[in-house]
Amino acid sequence: MAAYRTLTQQRRSEARDFLTRALPGAGTSIVWEIGCGHGHFLTAYAKAHPEVHCVGIDISSDRIERALRKRERVRLPNLHFFQAEAKLFLEEMPLGLSLSTIFILFPDPWPKLRHRKHRILQPDFLLNAAKRTAPNGRLYFRTDDLTYFRDAMQIIEAHPSWQPVAELWPFEFETVFQQRAATHYSVVAATRK
Ligand SMILES: C[S@@+](CC[C@H](N)C(=O)[O-])C[C@H]1O[C@@H](n2cnc3c(N)ncnc32)[C@H](O)[C@@H]1O
Repeated sequence: MAAYRTLTQQRRSEARDFLTRALPGAGTSIVWEIGCGHGHFLTAYAKAHPEVHCVGIDISSDRIERALRKRERVRLPNLHFFQAEAKLFLEEMPLGLSLSTIFILFPDPWPKLRHRKHRILQPDFLLNAAKRTAPNGRLYFRTDDLTYFRDAMQIIEAHPSWQPVAELWPFEFETVFQQRAATHYSVVAATRK
C-alpha cells in the first residue's frame, strides 16, 4: 500500500513536471486526447492546427513510446505525448491551463456490466473535466461499441456541465482502432457554461 502511494505520488509529480516543461504556461488552452494510442490522430491534428498545443496521453508506456518516436520524426513543436492515467493527469493540470477540446476516440468499452466502472466516460470525470474546460469547449467521443455510445449519450444528456450538440466531427483522420472497426458512433458535446 505504501509502495502504491509512493508510485502514485511519483506519477503525479512527473505529470506536473511535464505540464510545466512542455507547455507555455498560464493562459494556455490545449487540445487533449485521452487514450491516444500510438498518436496517429493527434499527430495529424497537430499538423493541421499548428496554432494549438495538442497533448496526447495514454496509460500504456509502449503506446506512448511509439507516439514519442512519431513525434521525433514529424518535429511538430505543438505536439506532446505523455504516459499517464487520464484522471490523475486532469487533477495535476496547473490552474492556468485549460482544455479547449477533448478527444476520446475508441476508448476501451468495458462491455461487462461489472467492469463498466472502469470506463473513462463517467459523470464524475465529466464534472472534473468541465471545471478545466474553457467556455465554449468541446468534447468529441467516438466508439465502435453501440452500448457504450448509448450510455455516453445518456450520461452527457443528463449531465449538469455538458450537453450534446448537433455539430459535425471537426477533423477526420482514422485512428488505428477506427481502421479495424466495422462502424462507429460519435457524440459531440459542449460545456453548459
Ligand atoms: C482501444 S484503445 C484506442 C486507441 C486509439 N484512441 C485508437 O482509436 O486507435 C484505448 C486506449 O486507451 C488507453 N487508456 C485506457 N484507459 C485509460 C486511462 N484511464 N487513461 C489513459 N489512457 C487510457 C489504452 O491504453 C489504449 O491505448
